[in-house]
Amino acid sequence: MLRLANIHAGYGPIKALKGIDIEINRGEIVSLIGSNGAGKSTCLMTISGILKSVSGSIMLGDTDIAGLPPHRIVQRGISQVPEGRRIFPKLTILENLQMGAFLGRGDFTTSLERIYKLFPILHERKKQSGGTLSGGEQQMLAIGRALMSNPDILLLDEPSLGLAPIMVSKIFKTIQEISSEGITILLVEQNARAALKLSHRGYVLENGCITLSGSSSDLLDNKKVQQAYLGE
Ligand SMILES: Nc1ncnc2c1ncn2[C@@H]1O[C@H](COP(=O)(O)OP(=O)(O)O)[C@@H](O)[C@H]1O
Ligand SMILES: [Mg+2]
Repeated sequence: MLRLANIHAGYGPIKALKGIDIEINRGEIVSLIGSNGAGKSTCLMTISGILKSVSGSIMLGDTDIAGLPPHRIVQRGISQVPEGRRIFPKLTILENLQMGAFLGRGDFTTSLERIYKLFPILHERKKQSGGTLSGGEQQMLAIGRALMSNPDILLLDEPSLGLAPIMVSKIFKTIQEISSEGITILLVEQNARAALKLSHRGYVLENGCITLSGSSSDLLDNKKVQQAYLGE
């Protein structure tokens, strides 16, 4: 469904991605794990067009979307939940969700109802400003906002970062629910164990290169992964 081939990207002289290949099939949850600074966020931003790749291709079906502007990529069905959530704290919850629908596809009311069903708390508090929500609730809002564009593929950047353990398990449960609705998911996480338990396959990114990939259960059993990312 989505295939990155030999993607190079970075920031001026900083080469953050040095020729990476990633393939995601329809309906999968794929996790991308790696230490701080490995290039995980860069990878997601390159897919969503926020950062232009230097070379390589990003095939969405038969179309190379590398180089398309971000709004075109949203219209083609890829939506990103950014690291650190980036909700609009002064806007109400409903307004935050409206922002997500702005560039998207599908019917606004249908999308909104679906998100309120997934996150009843966003419905209860729709008139409250985003900034009044807890960290976990803001993460729900960020996910809800990304879903408002009715994506086929959702890119999640460290959704569990900084959340209390109970919220972490709630967010992971939600990701499972979103997946069961038929949305394909690329999940970036430092919480490698939880990510691999949830996903079908995974990739390990080290210093801008994919160094390992495989089924999530194989990665969980892998000695190198255990030592470097699972604290075993
Ligand atoms: N805006 C930026 N300008 C310059 N360098 C950056 C910028 N963002 C990230 N980098 C660098 O690119 C590399 C990859 O970063 P990033 O993709 O954020 O890693 P991760 O998400 O895995 O922690 C790091 O060396 C980081 O310092
Ligand atoms: Mg990051």
